[in-house]
Amino acid sequence: MNENNISPISRRKVAEVANLIKTYDTKGFQTKVLMGIDLTVYEHDFIAIMGPSGSGKTTLLNILSTIDKPTQGTVTLDGQDVTRASNKELSSLRRDKIGFVFQDYNLLDTMTLQDNIALPLSLNGVPEKVCIQRVQEAAARFGLKEHLRKYPYQLSGGQKQRGATCRALVTNPKIIFADEPTGALDSKSGRDLLECLKGVNDSGQATILMVTHDPFCASYAKDVYMLSDGAILCRISRGADRKEFYDRIVDVQTSMGGDSSWE
Ligand SMILES: Nc1ncnc2c1ncn2[C@@H]1O[C@H](COP(=O)(O)OP(=O)(O)OP(=O)(O)O)[C@@H](O)[C@H]1O
Ligand SMILES: [Mg+2]
Repeated sequence: MNENNISPISRRKVAEVANLIKTYDTKGFQTKVLMGIDLTVYEHDFIAIMGPSGSGKTTLLNILSTIDKPTQGTVTLDGQDVTRASNKELSSLRRDKIGFVFQDYNLLDTMTLQDNIALPLSLNGVPEKVCIQRVQEAAARFGLKEHLRKYPYQLSGGQKQRGATCRALVTNPKIIFADEPTGALDSKSGRDLLECLKGVNDSGQATILMVTHDPFCASYAKDVYMLSDGAILCRISRGADRKEFYDRIVDVQTSMGGDSSWE
């Protein structure tokens, strides 16, 4: 195909699940949590997974990001069938191709912010000089340059989460997985983080899959998938205007039964 004529369909697949089923077995009782999900993430996507509490968002993200295993179905990351990968292959996949951002930051208290962000690089044996340069570039982008010598207890929640996001980005992973990244932040810090995530996605640096129950947070994505009882109900795609996208997300959320069960 002519390079100028590439349709969205031919964009590179970064992650894919097909007919994904997850059943938990608790004391002999089987609970089916994911009902046969098909989802493809393409390069440069920024996808938000939304849905009421207990609808299976974290389970889906954990399976896509190799933290958890499916009961049935396939999971492919950067062309590799994760369900058939050995533990060694899984470790290198996690190290080289995936970045994680968790709700509670997961920074190491005994290390400065600079060392925390550099950790995935230093574990990979990247020379110190290169580490420092990469960390400083990422920190500048996330407004953290003045804070690199501080320890996590000296940082605000927003600064910690932006630091955790820098740490996820510093290895240039194929995809960033984020579970409720603004869940522990006040609205201003949450907005700052989302602007940063949008910035790295817009510049083509990161493909992002983010779980959230918050329509405001989801409105920073390009596409929102609504999950209900372990199945994808619909996809909502963004137009030019984030506010209009937000309104459409809220409309769908309302039609699914309001937001009281979404906290
Ligand atoms: N390890 C487990 N064993 C048994 N059941 C589980 C386990 N983990 C999750 N579940 C159940 O699976 C369902 C989906 O959980 P999940 O954490 O994916 O929901 P969620 O959409 O992320 O919810 P929230 O918005 O509250 O974070 C819930 O009913 C939960 O109780
Ligand atoms: Mg969850």
